[in-house]
Amino acid sequence: MGRTLEITPCRRFRGEPRLPGDKSISHRALLLAGLADGTSRITGLAAGWDLLATREALRRLGVAIDLISESAVTVVGVGGASHLREPEEPIPCLNSGTTARLLAGVVAGLPGLTVLSGDASLRRRPMRRVIEPLRETGARLWGRAQDTCLPLCIQGQARLRPLSYRLPVPSAQVKSALLLAGLAADGVTTIEEPVPTRDHTETMLRAAGIDCQRTGPLITVSGPAVPQPGDRAIPGDPSAGAAFAVGAAIHPGSHIVLRRLGLNPTRTGFLDILARMGAAVEVLERAEAKGEPVGDVAIKGRGLRGLDLGPADIPGLIDEIPLLAVAMALAEGPSTIRGAEELRRKESDRLACLTRELQRFGLAVTETADGLTLPGGGRPVAPAFADTHGDHRIGLAVAILATAATGTTLLRDAQWLDVSFPGFEAELRRVATP
Ligand code: S3P
Repeated sequence: MGRTLEITPCRRFRGEPRLPGDKSISHRALLLAGLADGTSRITGLAAGWDLLATREALRRLGVAIDLISESAVTVVGVGGASHLREPEEPIPCLNSGTTARLLAGVVAGLPGLTVLSGDASLRRRPMRRVIEPLRETGARLWGRAQDTCLPLCIQGQARLRPLSYRLPVPSAQVKSALLLAGLAADGVTTIEEPVPTRDHTETMLRAAGIDCQRTGPLITVSGPAVPQPGDRAIPGDPSAGAAFAVGAAIHPGSHIVLRRLGLNPTRTGFLDILARMGAAVEVLERAEAKGEPVGDVAIKGRGLRGLDLGPADIPGLIDEIPLLAVAMALAEGPSTIRGAEELRRKESDRLACLTRELQRFGLAVTETADGLTLPGGGRPVAPAFADTHGDHRIGLAVAILATAATGTTLLRDAQWLDVSFPGFEAELRRVATP
């Protein structure tokens, strides 16, 4: 059933919004714990449908997962992909690209047949990027639409050939799939990553005792190897925090603090951009948890100015671009986003959907082949009948924009926010101050 969210304007954002655990780290923590040789305990796990998909997939593959609370689990690992159970039925990856792509790498090492499927959005997303390199490991893979899309059929084997592969598009999901397959390979897998992407998989493999190294653009993992089990507290999700950071930045006089936020430098590009646009961003407290930096971050809203984002900026803020586009639309002076064509291959065509939604609020924006052009100076913002387009990140961006409108906005199909941030609405109501 569709849910409609009513968003009233606010003057500023104040307080400490509670964030779900980092989604990327949560997927990886579950997968590595499932492959480990023993029991792991994970706390601060991400909420949302995407993580449900990974949890359910692991259960179907024979991994025992017990819920201790809503965000804490124990996982009994099977001791390597070759000990996973051949699933009796296709695995529904729901809306989650990370589940589908990372699992493809994992089950390449399962000597049996696995079928991965997903919802209508996920079935449209490109899968050739994992099919082609995984075939070189000796696993056999077939996909719908000439090996480009889900459902994906994978006949794995217990021992894979080690890969040497250069990523044609910057993608942490593809890199991670290949590194996870590397755990079942006989020898050293080498991935070349010309543009750096989030490096959680590498950090977490090392924390689990796996020989995984980075030299310049080259990442290696030595197989065969089984991760060690361990306990992990997952930091707050920077991509969820970005909603409140942008909310604070667009409302001068705002002051929010994001506690125990993940501060991995491959994820915090949006904080640097907001600071360059004129927001006050301060890291109050820094720590490290198993190689992942975390900290408390204060963001204060002041006037924003426009700026240009180019191809090298994109991987470090790929999921935050819809929110940053909102800041750019309201900033003084023009902004451009270039080199972001990958946004067309996410849960929706984010360039097209963002353009449509910003225009509904009366904001000027032009869609280009690989980005957006925003003249800025968008206030006053007209309230709108807005839409998530079935995409949680579009929904978050629209909801934040709506707080700057001159009247009440109705956001249709707001249930999609639950993909990554089920408690968003309550947190927004707590911090958006009339
Ligand atoms: C993710 C990588 C990114 C990102 C996605 C999560 C990950 O996707 O957009 O939300 O956890 O590895 P790509 O690897 O396709 O860029």
